[in-house]
Amino acid sequence: MEGNVTNLSDPDLRVPTGVEGFDELCGGGFIKDRTYLISGTSGAGKTIFTLQFLYNGITKYGENGIFVATEERPEQIRENALMFGWDFKKLEDEGRLAIIDAASTKIGIPSQEKYVDVRPFDMRSMMDQIIMIQEEIDAKRAVIDSTTSIGFYLQDPAKIRVELLKLSTTLEILGLTSLMTSEIVDDDHPSRFGVENFVTEGTIALYYKRMENVRVRSMEIYKMRGSDHSKKIHPYDITGDGIVVHPHEEVYQVF
Ligand SMILES: Nc1ncnc2c1ncn2[C@@H]1O[C@H](COP(=O)(O)OP(=O)(O)O)[C@@H](O)[C@H]1O
Ligand SMILES: [Mg+2]
Repeated sequence: MEGNVTNLSDPDLRVPTGVEGFDELCGGGFIKDRTYLISGTSGAGKTIFTLQFLYNGITKYGENGIFVATEERPEQIRENALMFGWDFKKLEDEGRLAIIDAASTKIGIPSQEKYVDVRPFDMRSMMDQIIMIQEEIDAKRAVIDSTTSIGFYLQDPAKIRVELLKLSTTLEILGLTSLMTSEIVDDDHPSRFGVENFVTEGTIALYYKRMENVRVRSMEIYKMRGSDHSKKIHPYDITGDGIVVHPHEEVYQVF
Protein backbone atom coordinates (compact mmCIF):
# COMPACT_ATOMS: atom_id res chain seq x y z
CA MET A 1 0.00 0.00 0.00
CA GLU A 2 3.02 2.22 0.39
CA GLY A 3 2.71 3.50 -3.15
CA ASN A 4 -0.69 5.00 -2.40
CA VAL A 5 0.46 7.06 0.52
CA THR A 6 1.43 10.61 -0.34
CA ASN A 7 5.06 11.33 0.41
CA LEU A 8 4.90 14.81 1.87
CA SER A 9 8.62 15.35 1.52
CA ASP A 10 8.33 15.11 -2.27
CA PRO A 11 9.41 18.56 -3.53
CA ASP A 12 7.00 18.23 -6.47
CA LEU A 13 4.12 18.47 -4.00
CA ARG A 14 5.19 21.94 -2.89
CA VAL A 15 3.23 24.95 -4.02
CA PRO A 16 5.45 28.02 -3.74
CA THR A 17 3.84 31.28 -2.75
CA GLY A 18 6.60 33.26 -4.43
CA VAL A 19 6.34 35.67 -1.47
CA GLU A 20 9.95 36.73 -0.96
CA GLY A 21 11.47 34.94 2.04
CA PHE A 22 8.37 32.90 2.90
CA ASP A 23 8.74 29.58 1.08
CA GLU A 24 12.10 28.77 2.65
CA LEU A 25 10.44 28.87 6.08
CA CYS A 26 8.29 25.86 5.23
CA GLY A 27 10.19 23.50 2.98
CA GLY A 28 9.45 25.28 -0.29
CA GLY A 29 5.83 26.28 0.09
CA PHE A 30 2.43 24.86 0.92
CA ILE A 31 1.47 21.26 0.24
CA LYS A 32 -0.50 20.82 -2.95
CA ASP A 33 -4.31 20.66 -2.63
CA ARG A 34 -4.31 21.48 1.07
CA THR A 35 -6.03 24.40 2.80
CA TYR A 36 -4.23 26.87 5.07
CA LEU A 37 -5.44 29.54 7.44
CA ILE A 38 -3.95 33.03 7.37
CA SER A 39 -4.86 34.70 10.63
CA GLY A 40 -4.21 38.18 11.93
CA THR A 41 -5.77 41.34 13.25
CA SER A 42 -7.28 43.92 10.91
CA GLY A 43 -4.58 45.54 8.76
CA ALA A 44 -2.06 42.79 9.42
CA GLY A 45 -1.69 42.01 5.71
CA LYS A 46 -3.87 38.91 5.29
CA THR A 47 -5.57 40.04 2.10
CA ILE A 48 -2.31 41.23 0.55
CA PHE A 49 -0.66 37.86 1.29
CA THR A 50 -3.49 36.02 -0.46
CA LEU A 51 -3.50 38.38 -3.46
CA GLN A 52 0.24 37.82 -3.84
CA PHE A 53 -0.22 34.04 -3.58
CA LEU A 54 -2.71 34.13 -6.45
CA TYR A 55 -0.83 36.66 -8.58
CA ASN A 56 2.48 34.75 -8.31
CA GLY A 57 0.65 31.48 -8.87
CA ILE A 58 -0.69 32.70 -12.19
CA THR A 59 2.24 34.74 -13.45
CA LYS A 60 5.21 32.73 -12.13
CA TYR A 61 3.94 29.18 -11.80
CA GLY A 62 1.17 28.90 -14.40
CA GLU A 63 -1.49 28.08 -11.79
CA ASN A 64 -4.78 29.86 -12.31
CA GLY A 65 -6.70 31.17 -9.31
CA ILE A 66 -10.07 31.90 -7.74
CA PHE A 67 -10.62 34.67 -5.19
CA VAL A 68 -13.82 34.59 -3.11
CA ALA A 69 -14.38 38.13 -1.80
CA THR A 70 -16.76 38.21 1.15
CA GLU A 71 -15.63 41.49 2.70
CA GLU A 72 -14.40 43.82 -0.02
CA ARG A 73 -16.12 44.16 -3.36
CA PRO A 74 -14.15 42.85 -6.37
CA GLU A 75 -13.57 46.42 -7.55
CA GLN A 76 -11.75 47.18 -4.29
CA ILE A 77 -9.76 43.97 -4.58
CA ARG A 78 -8.62 44.97 -8.09
CA GLU A 79 -7.66 48.44 -6.83
CA ASN A 80 -5.72 47.00 -3.89
CA ALA A 81 -3.87 44.59 -6.15
CA LEU A 82 -3.03 47.28 -8.69
CA MET A 83 -1.31 49.30 -5.96
CA PHE A 84 1.36 46.61 -6.03
CA GLY A 85 1.41 46.49 -9.82
CA TRP A 86 -0.69 43.32 -9.98
CA ASP A 87 -3.13 43.76 -12.84
CA PHE A 88 -6.00 41.47 -11.81
CA LYS A 89 -8.36 42.82 -14.48
CA LYS A 90 -5.97 41.69 -17.21
CA LEU A 91 -5.67 38.21 -15.67
CA GLU A 92 -9.45 37.96 -15.44
CA ASP A 93 -9.81 39.00 -19.08
CA GLU A 94 -7.30 36.31 -20.01
CA GLY A 95 -9.35 33.68 -18.16
CA ARG A 96 -6.62 32.97 -15.61
CA LEU A 97 -8.26 34.53 -12.58
CA ALA A 98 -11.85 34.70 -11.33
CA ILE A 99 -13.19 36.82 -8.50
CA ILE A 100 -16.48 35.80 -6.89
CA ASP A 101 -18.42 38.74 -5.49
CA ALA A 102 -19.75 37.42 -2.20
CA ALA A 103 -19.77 40.89 -0.66
CA SER A 104 -22.38 42.94 -2.56
CA THR A 105 -25.39 40.74 -1.85
CA LYS A 106 -24.46 40.61 1.80
CA ILE A 107 -24.73 44.38 2.11
CA GLY A 108 -27.69 44.59 -0.27
CA ILE A 109 -26.19 46.41 -3.24
CA PRO A 110 -26.38 45.34 -6.91
CA SER A 111 -23.36 43.78 -8.57
CA GLN A 112 -22.16 44.00 -12.18
CA GLU A 113 -19.70 41.17 -11.64
CA LYS A 114 -19.51 38.07 -13.82
CA TYR A 115 -19.47 35.80 -10.76
CA VAL A 116 -21.84 36.79 -7.98
CA ASP A 117 -22.90 34.83 -4.95
CA VAL A 118 -26.64 35.36 -5.09
CA ARG A 119 -27.54 34.74 -1.49
CA PRO A 120 -26.13 36.52 1.56
CA PHE A 121 -24.49 33.30 2.50
CA ASP A 122 -25.07 29.77 1.38
CA MET A 123 -22.22 27.30 1.48
CA ARG A 124 -23.80 25.08 -1.16
CA SER A 125 -24.14 27.87 -3.70
CA MET A 126 -20.63 29.13 -2.95
CA MET A 127 -19.20 25.65 -3.47
CA ASP A 128 -21.21 25.19 -6.67
CA GLN A 129 -19.73 28.41 -8.05
CA ILE A 130 -16.21 27.36 -7.10
CA ILE A 131 -16.73 23.94 -8.74
CA MET A 132 -18.00 25.58 -11.95
CA ILE A 133 -15.23 28.17 -12.12
CA GLN A 134 -12.50 25.66 -11.28
CA GLU A 135 -13.50 23.71 -14.37
CA GLU A 136 -13.97 26.82 -16.49
CA ILE A 137 -10.50 28.29 -15.88
CA ASP A 138 -8.67 25.14 -14.71
CA ALA A 139 -7.81 26.80 -11.41
CA LYS A 140 -5.18 25.32 -9.11
CA ARG A 141 -5.28 27.89 -6.28
CA ALA A 142 -8.13 29.46 -4.34
CA VAL A 143 -8.60 32.07 -1.64
CA ILE A 144 -11.55 32.56 0.71
CA ASP A 145 -11.28 36.07 2.19
CA SER A 146 -12.59 35.70 4.85
CA THR A 147 -13.94 32.89 6.97
CA THR A 148 -14.82 35.47 9.61
CA SER A 149 -17.82 36.83 7.73
CA ILE A 150 -18.96 33.26 7.04
CA GLY A 151 -18.61 32.56 10.75
CA PHE A 152 -20.67 35.58 11.76
CA TYR A 153 -23.40 34.39 9.47
CA LEU A 154 -23.44 30.84 10.85
CA GLN A 155 -22.76 31.89 14.45
CA ASP A 156 -22.65 28.45 16.05
CA PRO A 157 -19.01 27.22 16.28
CA ALA A 158 -20.03 23.59 15.69
CA LYS A 159 -21.82 24.61 12.52
CA ILE A 160 -18.92 26.81 11.41
CA ARG A 161 -16.56 23.89 11.86
CA VAL A 162 -18.71 21.52 9.80
CA GLU A 163 -19.31 24.05 7.00
CA LEU A 164 -15.65 25.05 6.76
CA LEU A 165 -14.66 21.39 6.77
CA LYS A 166 -17.03 20.79 3.84
CA LEU A 167 -15.49 23.76 2.06
CA SER A 168 -11.86 22.76 2.65
CA THR A 169 -12.61 19.16 1.64
CA THR A 170 -14.31 20.31 -1.55
CA LEU A 171 -11.34 22.55 -2.39
CA GLU A 172 -8.99 19.64 -1.81
CA ILE A 173 -11.00 17.28 -4.02
CA LEU A 174 -11.02 19.93 -6.75
CA GLY A 175 -7.21 20.00 -6.62
CA LEU A 176 -7.05 23.54 -5.27
CA THR A 177 -4.29 24.65 -2.93
CA SER A 178 -6.15 27.18 -0.82
CA LEU A 179 -5.86 29.94 1.70
CA MET A 180 -8.63 31.03 4.05
CA THR A 181 -8.25 34.17 6.11
CA SER A 182 -9.40 34.65 9.69
CA GLU A 183 -9.64 38.06 11.28
CA ILE A 184 -8.80 37.85 14.95
CA VAL A 185 -9.25 40.53 17.60
CA ASP A 186 -6.11 39.76 19.58
CA ASP A 187 -3.05 37.66 18.88
CA ASP A 188 -3.63 35.16 21.67
CA HIS A 189 -5.96 32.98 19.64
CA PRO A 190 -5.16 31.66 16.16
CA SER A 191 -8.73 31.99 14.87
CA ARG A 192 -11.85 34.06 15.50
CA PHE A 193 -14.30 31.29 16.33
CA GLY A 194 -11.75 28.82 17.69
CA VAL A 195 -12.49 26.20 15.04
CA GLU A 196 -11.09 27.50 11.73
CA ASN A 197 -7.61 26.21 12.53
CA PHE A 198 -8.98 22.69 13.02
CA VAL A 199 -10.22 22.36 9.46
CA THR A 200 -7.01 23.53 7.84
CA GLU A 201 -3.62 21.85 7.39
CA GLY A 202 -1.69 24.78 8.69
CA THR A 203 -1.97 28.21 10.22
CA ILE A 204 0.15 31.25 9.41
CA ALA A 205 -0.22 34.01 11.99
CA LEU A 206 0.47 37.58 10.92
CA TYR A 207 1.22 40.02 13.74
CA TYR A 208 1.15 43.79 13.71
CA LYS A 209 2.40 44.72 17.14
CA ARG A 210 3.44 47.90 18.84
CA MET A 211 6.97 47.75 20.19
CA GLU A 212 7.78 50.91 22.09
CA ASN A 213 6.87 53.67 19.66
CA VAL A 214 6.74 51.73 16.38
CA ARG A 215 4.58 49.00 14.98
CA VAL A 216 6.39 45.91 13.77
CA ARG A 217 5.05 43.32 11.36
CA SER A 218 6.01 39.72 11.97
CA MET A 219 4.78 36.26 11.08
CA GLU A 220 4.84 32.81 12.52
CA ILE A 221 4.06 29.43 11.03
CA TYR A 222 1.86 28.27 13.85
CA LYS A 223 1.13 24.84 12.50
CA MET A 224 1.89 23.07 9.23
CA ARG A 225 1.20 19.38 9.00
CA GLY A 226 3.69 17.35 7.03
CA SER A 227 6.24 20.16 6.89
CA ASP A 228 9.44 20.83 8.71
CA HIS A 229 8.84 24.51 9.28
CA SER A 230 10.43 27.38 11.11
CA LYS A 231 9.22 27.74 14.71
CA LYS A 232 10.48 31.29 14.96
CA ILE A 233 8.78 34.62 14.58
CA HIS A 234 10.08 36.43 11.51
CA PRO A 235 9.73 40.10 10.66
CA TYR A 236 8.23 41.14 7.35
CA ASP A 237 7.47 44.34 5.49
CA ILE A 238 4.76 45.41 3.13
CA THR A 239 6.59 47.16 0.29
CA GLY A 240 5.49 48.57 -3.05
CA ASP A 241 6.01 45.04 -4.43
CA GLY A 242 3.99 43.33 -1.70
CA ILE A 243 5.03 41.28 1.31
CA VAL A 244 8.73 40.63 1.91
CA VAL A 245 9.63 38.24 4.75
CA HIS A 246 13.04 38.31 6.43
CA PRO A 247 13.69 34.61 7.09
CA HIS A 248 17.10 35.08 8.72
CA GLU A 249 15.95 37.65 11.24
CA GLU A 250 13.89 36.98 14.33
CA VAL A 251 11.54 39.03 16.45
CA TYR A 252 11.98 38.17 20.10
CA GLN A 253 9.70 40.54 21.88
CA VAL A 254 6.32 40.19 20.23
CA PHE A 255 4.04 40.31 23.23
N1 LIG B 1 1.42 50.03 -0.98
C1 LIG B 1 1.58 49.75 0.31
N2 LIG B 1 2.77 49.88 0.89
C2 LIG B 1 2.94 49.59 2.19
N3 LIG B 1 1.95 49.15 2.99
C3 LIG B 1 0.75 49.01 2.45
C4 LIG B 1 0.48 49.28 1.10
N4 LIG B 1 -0.81 49.03 0.86
C5 LIG B 1 -1.33 48.62 2.02
N5 LIG B 1 -0.41 48.60 2.98
C6 LIG B 1 -0.59 48.18 4.38
O1 LIG B 1 -1.35 46.98 4.37
C7 LIG B 1 -2.41 47.07 5.31
C8 LIG B 1 -3.64 46.34 4.82
O2 LIG B 1 -3.33 45.03 4.51
P1 LIG B 1 -4.50 43.99 4.29
O3 LIG B 1 -3.91 42.80 3.64
O4 LIG B 1 -5.65 44.62 3.60
O5 LIG B 1 -4.89 43.68 5.80
P2 LIG B 1 -5.92 42.63 6.39
O6 LIG B 1 -6.55 41.90 5.24
O7 LIG B 1 -5.11 41.74 7.28
O8 LIG B 1 -6.91 43.44 7.18
C9 LIG B 1 -2.69 48.55 5.44
O9 LIG B 1 -3.16 48.82 6.73
C10 LIG B 1 -1.35 49.18 5.18
O10 LIG B 1 -0.65 49.38 6.40
MG1 LIG C 1 -8.49 41.79 4.54
